[in-house]
Amino acid sequence: MRQILLISFLLIGSCDARWFGKFGRDQPKGLPVILVPGDGGSQLESNLTGKPSVVHYVCSKQTADFFDLWLNLELFTPLVIDCWADNMQLVFNTTTGLSENMPGVDIRVVGFGATEAVEWLDKSKASQGRYFFDIVDSMVSWGYRRGKDVVGAPFDWRRSPNELNDYLIQLKTLVETTYRWNENKKIVLVGHSMGNPLSLYFLNNYVDQAWKDKYINSFVSLAAPWAGSMQIVRLFASGYNMNYYRVILPPSALRGMQRSFTSSAFLFPSPVAWKPTDILAQTALKNYTVSNIKEFFEDINYMTGWEQYQQAARLNGNLSAPGVPVHCIYGTGVPTPERFQWASGYFPDYPPTEFMGDGDGTVNKKSATVCSNWIGNNEGKKVTVHEVFQADHMAILKHPNAIELVRKAIFEEM
Ligand SMILES: *[C@@H]1O[C@H](CO)[C@@H](O)[C@H](O)[C@H]1NC(C)=O
Ligand SMILES: *[C@@H]1O[C@H](CO)[C@@H](O)[C@H](O)[C@H]1NC(C)=O
Ligand SMILES: *[C@@H]1O[C@H](CO)[C@@H](O)[C@H](O)[C@H]1NC(C)=O
Ligand SMILES: *[C@@H]1O[C@H](CO)[C@@H](O)[C@H](O)[C@H]1NC(C)=O
Repeated sequence: MRQILLISFLLIGSCDARWFGKFGRDQPKGLPVILVPGDGGSQLESNLTGKPSVVHYVCSKQTADFFDLWLNLELFTPLVIDCWADNMQLVFNTTTGLSENMPGVDIRVVGFGATEAVEWLDKSKASQGRYFFDIVDSMVSWGYRRGKDVVGAPFDWRRSPNELNDYLIQLKTLVETTYRWNENKKIVLVGHSMGNPLSLYFLNNYVDQAWKDKYINSFVSLAAPWAGSMQIVRLFASGYNMNYYRVILPPSALRGMQRSFTSSAFLFPSPVAWKPTDILAQTALKNYTVSNIKEFFEDINYMTGWEQYQQAARLNGNLSAPGVPVHCIYGTGVPTPERFQWASGYFPDYPPTEFMGDGDGTVNKKSATVCSNWIGNNEGKKVTVHEVFQADHMAILKHPNAIELVRKAIFEEM
C-alpha cells in the first residue's frame, strides 16, 4: 500500500513539474554558486596614509581616500607604473614569516559576497578587466540572481593561503549563509586559477568531512595550477609581464613587486608534478630543478624568496583530494613554457628563452592534471576530469565548452 502511494505521488510530482515547467513557474533551479577567483582576480583598493618614501617625485605619499589599485589601467603609464608597483608590494617579515603592506599603504579587497568585483577587475569595465562576467551572465540567463544564488569570494591574491586566515574563515561563513539563504541547498564552489589550490587548502584544513558533506555539493575547478606553474620560475628570476591579463607591462618594473607576493611562492612548481630530472631553468653554469631550489634563490640573489618558499610552497602538501565531488576542467593545446634558458650573462635580469610544452599558456598540463590522481581516492566522492582543447588560461572563462560543463555541474547533470 505504501509503495503504491509513493509511486502515484512520484507520478503526480513529475506531471506537476512538466506542467509548470511549460509555463516557466517551476523551471529547474541550479545550486547556489560561490566564485573563488585567481591570482590577480580580485579588485584591490588602496589608501596612502603617509609613505615614508616614494620611488619618484610623481608618486603620492598620501591620499585622502581609497582609490582603485587593481585593476586600474590608468596607472600603467611610465613612472606612474613604478609608483603603482611600489604600492602593491608586500614586505616579508622574516621573524613572523608573514608579509605586511608597504609602510604607509592601506590595502583592502572590495565586493566580498557580491559578483561585481569578480566579474570585472576594473570598475570602468574595460575589456582587459573582463573576468567572471561571461559565466555569471550565462548563469543569469539560466535563472540565477547575482548576490543571491551566485556570489563571489574575492581575496588579497598577493598572499599565500597561510596569510589568508581571516578570509578563509569568512569563506566558511559565506558557504553557510549562502546555503541557508537558498533553502539549505548545497553549494558549488567554482574556482579559477589560484582560487583552486586555495579552495583545496580551505577544504583540507579549515573544515571537516561532516561540514563538507553538509554544505558542499561539488567543487568545479577551472584552469587550476594544482602543483604550480613554470611562469613563477621566470617571474622570480626576471619578472613576468603578466600578459595573461591582456596588459603588457615591462617585466623589469614588476619583478620586485612580483617577488614580494607570497602567492608567487605558493605557486612555485611542486615536486608532486615536477620530477627531480625536469629542468626548470638552465644557465651556462647550472641546471635548476625541484631538487636545488635553494641554489636557485641564492643565484638570483633573492634569499627572501627561499624563506617565502619554505613558508608557502608546500602548503597543500602532496595535494591530497578535497573529499568533495570534483569536476576538474582545464585547457590544453596552448604553447606553455616548460623550461627557461638564459644565455651567459643574461641570468637572472634579462628575459629567458622559452621552450614550450603543453598547457593553457600559463598552467602546465602536468600541474592541471593532478586532479586525475583523485579518481577513486576522494572519500568515495566523484571526480570528473575534462580537457578543453585550445582553451587559454583566461579564455577558458568564456569558452562555450567550459561554460556548458559549469552548467551541467550546477544543475547536477554530471
Ligand atoms: C586615508 O588616509 C588618510 C591619510 O592620508 C586618512 O586621513 C583617511 O581617513 C583615510 N581614509 C579612509 C577612508 O580610511
Ligand atoms: C616583524 O614582526 C615583528 C613581530 O611582530 C616586529 O617586532 C618587527 O618589527 C617586524 N619587523 C619588521 C622589519 O617590520
Ligand atoms: C643541463 O642539462 C642539459 C640537459 O640535460 C645538459 O646538456 C647540460 O650539460 C646541463 N648543464 C649543466 C651546466 O650541467
Ligand atoms: C609526500 O610524499 C612524499 C613521498 O611519497 C613523502 O615522503 C612525504 O612525507 C609526503 N608529505 C606529506 C606532507 O604528506
